[in-house]
Amino acid sequence: MHARAVAATTTALLGTATLLAPTPDARAGDVGEQPRIVAHRGASAYAPENTLPAIDEAARLGFSWVENDVQRTKDGVLVVIHDDSLKRTTNVEKVFPGRAPWKVKDFTAAEIARLDAGSWFGPGYAGTHVPTLKQYMSRVESNHEKLLLEIKNPELYPGIEHQTLGLLGNEGWLDRPHLGRLIVQSFSADSLRIVHDLKPGLTTGFLGTPPPRDLYRYARFTDLINPSYGTISGSYVATVHAFHGPHGRRLGVYTWTVNDAATAWTVTRYGVDGVITNKPDVVWAALTGY
Ligand code: G3P
Ligand code: CA
Repeated sequence: MHARAVAATTTALLGTATLLAPTPDARAGDVGEQPRIVAHRGASAYAPENTLPAIDEAARLGFSWVENDVQRTKDGVLVVIHDDSLKRTTNVEKVFPGRAPWKVKDFTAAEIARLDAGSWFGPGYAGTHVPTLKQYMSRVESNHEKLLLEIKNPELYPGIEHQTLGLLGNEGWLDRPHLGRLIVQSFSADSLRIVHDLKPGLTTGFLGTPPPRDLYRYARFTDLINPSYGTISGSYVATVHAFHGPHGRRLGVYTWTVNDAATAWTVTRYGVDGVITNKPDVVWAALTGY
C-alpha cells in the first residue's frame, strides 16, 4: 500500500482530529512504503540552490536527503554548483565583467569565494557563497543529512570521479555507516562506471531513461535508474524493477523534478522508489495527506 492509501485508511479509522503530525524521521522517506523524498539542490524552492542555506532549509523542514551538483574550479577545487557557468546563480558578471562566459572551470576557488550566490534568489540571502564540496560535506554531516551527489559535466573535468571519492574518503564519507547515507549519480554512464570501479560498495544512480533492452548493461554498475518524470510510466518502472543491480538488490527508480501534488501521486502510483523535488514539503503533503 502506498503512503496516500495508508493515510486515507488511517484517516477513515481514526478521524482527522486524532492524526499526529509525521516525525522528521518519517519525512526521510525511509519508513513505510512511500517513496524517499530528496530535496533537489537542497530545498531549492525556498533558498538558493546548491548552497548551505538550501540544505539547512531542507533540514529545518524535516527532510534528511538532499541532492547537489559537483564541478571543479580552474585550480582544481571541487565546488557545489549546477550550471557550468557562474552567471545565473552568482553576481559574477558584476565582479568580473570581462570574463564572459564565466565558466566555473575558468575561475579559481579564491575568485569564486568572492561571489554572492544568494542575492539572485532574494535579498535575505545576500552574502551566501558557492560552497566548496568540503564545506558542503561538513554541513551535511552537522545537519545529520544524507546526500545524493551528482557529478555534473564530468567530461569537462578529467579525473573528477577519483578526486570526488578522494575528498569523500578524507571527510569520512566512505566508511560503512556513511555509505548508507550516500548515493553518487551522473548523466554520464562512463563516469558512473568509473565511480563503481573505484568504490564498488557505493550506491550509484544513472540519470536518464535507458531503453529496456539496454537495462541489463546499466545493471552492472548502477543501483538506480533516475529518469525525468515525464519520460516514465508504471510499466517502465516495473521493467526497471525486474533487474538486479551490482549489489544484488532490485534496481530502483528515483524520478525528478516533481514539484506538485498531482505529479507526486502519479509517480507514486507508478511505483517509484524516490522523488527528487524542489518542494519536499509539497510532495510530503501530497503523499501523506498532512
Ligand atoms: O537529481 C536529478 C536532477 O538533479 C538532474 O537534473 O539538471 O537538475 O541536475 P539537474
Ligand atoms: Ca543535479
